[in-house]
Amino acid sequence: MKILIAASEAFPFCKTGGLADVTGALAQVFSRAEDTEVVLFLPRYRNVGGGAFSLKAAGGSFLIPVGNKVETATMSRVQWGKVAVYFIENPKYFDRPGMYRTPGGDFEDNDERFIFFSRAVLEGAKFIGFKPDVIHCHDWQTGLVPAYLRTLYRIDSFYAKTASVFTIHNIAYQGMFPKETLLKAGFSWLDFTPERLEFYGGMNFMKSGLVFSDLITTVSPTYASEIQYRPEFGHGMEGILKHRNADLFGILNGIDDEIWDPATDTFLERGYELKSFQRGKAAAKKALQKELGLEENKDLVLAGVVSRLDRQKGLDLLLNAAPGFLDKMQFVVLGVGDPGLTDAFGALAAANPKSFAFKTGFNESMAHRIYGGSDIFVMPSRFEPCGLPQMISMRYGSLPLVTRTGGLKDTVFYNGEPKDSNGFAIDNADEGELRSVLGHIISLYGWRENWNMMVRNAMNGDYSWTRSAEAYLKLFGIAAQRRQL
Ligand code: ADP
Ligand code: GLC
Repeated sequence: MKILIAASEAFPFCKTGGLADVTGALAQVFSRAEDTEVVLFLPRYRNVGGGAFSLKAAGGSFLIPVGNKVETATMSRVQWGKVAVYFIENPKYFDRPGMYRTPGGDFEDNDERFIFFSRAVLEGAKFIGFKPDVIHCHDWQTGLVPAYLRTLYRIDSFYAKTASVFTIHNIAYQGMFPKETLLKAGFSWLDFTPERLEFYGGMNFMKSGLVFSDLITTVSPTYASEIQYRPEFGHGMEGILKHRNADLFGILNGIDDEIWDPATDTFLERGYELKSFQRGKAAAKKALQKELGLEENKDLVLAGVVSRLDRQKGLDLLLNAAPGFLDKMQFVVLGVGDPGLTDAFGALAAANPKSFAFKTGFNESMAHRIYGGSDIFVMPSRFEPCGLPQMISMRYGSLPLVTRTGGLKDTVFYNGEPKDSNGFAIDNADEGELRSVLGHIISLYGWRENWNMMVRNAMNGDYSWTRSAEAYLKLFGIAAQRRQL
């Protein structure tokens, strides 16, 4: 099967969040499956992979209409294991300091940038002669690809048998633009209907993916149900999702078990595995306390956070709850995003340097040391399509404290019985609930046998991609077969 993955980010080339981890991991696991050929298309942003890859020009250039302008696309390529990665180039659109936004807000031409990218993917695949059985699209940035296949490219014999599968990573971000965007994208007003591309008077790229793809997936079973049946989760897409219920599947993300392996993690003081976790984690915790200037005390629960600072993640609850625990616990928050939260965490850390550490910026190595050195990992998300940090932290023996929502609910189990639990959970993103479970955690930490039993449960879990990758490939087969009919 020939699989084309179109995405706006993929680790290790460009990343703002979990989307990149997932598209990168999927490209690799699909490519290692039997009888598959995988190409990955990405925009060529400034500074691909921090300069660690040597990209080669892929030859030629082609013209992409954007409204009444014509823009030029070129491509470069890198071979990444068995995956051929193609970067769509256009410096005007992509050679910028950020991927989607500046600190001040979203780029104003994000509609044009991803219209250009989506059409260039379809043209680029033709250019290299890669005729995909399936195009796997991710989130709103590639939501137009399924629509192009069914409209502008409907009579293109190259794509006559190509199916599309659209994966929702976060339905809260939809790519909503004014109605004029429709024309920039090359559609006609005939497509501006509620059944097709119109959404509350504008044009919505996420909706385009949901309407036109052959199959839809999202990144956990619980989120698949939440977005259909609960308006606060569906963000206006509940109707269309319910309509497509038979074509919608929740497939849980995995984590890359080579990148996230405490046994071989070179960012840690020393590696550890299940058998040796007590010593390994103690060393990692001590080193982390030292690095951050926290009191070097092994008896205090050290709580870690590695996150986008965004309302979704519920960290305002932690900000409010933490001051009540500073004499009994330590905290380290690593995150970028909301300026208000950044300032507030910064002030809390400045006032309590021995018990609260805050680091802003994207810091891969520190993230590893937090997963390794923390005792618990806090994720009180208001909603969470899947969430990767809770799985990473479990693999590192740091017990996650999560809200029972989306993928958090599908991966973290807590019923008050240590033998059946691999972390802690609250029902709602609520400050009172958070305080009460933090209190419980402090008392449980003294009961080492019970605590260690939970750590073993967490570290023993299977967070690999194996099962989920099979589920995707099966769906790709179904989607491709439908196109053969
Ligand atoms: P999101 O909603 O942000 O995509 P996920 O839970 O899917 O959240 O994944 C977040 C990923 O990004 C994890 O791999 C996490 O370790 C990483 N991450 C988030 N913030 C930072 C940061 N400031 N520095 C390093 N890694 C980060
Ligand atoms: C999104 C979600 C996150 C999920 C990630 C990868 O960014 O917010 O929950 O883990 O996509 O699918």
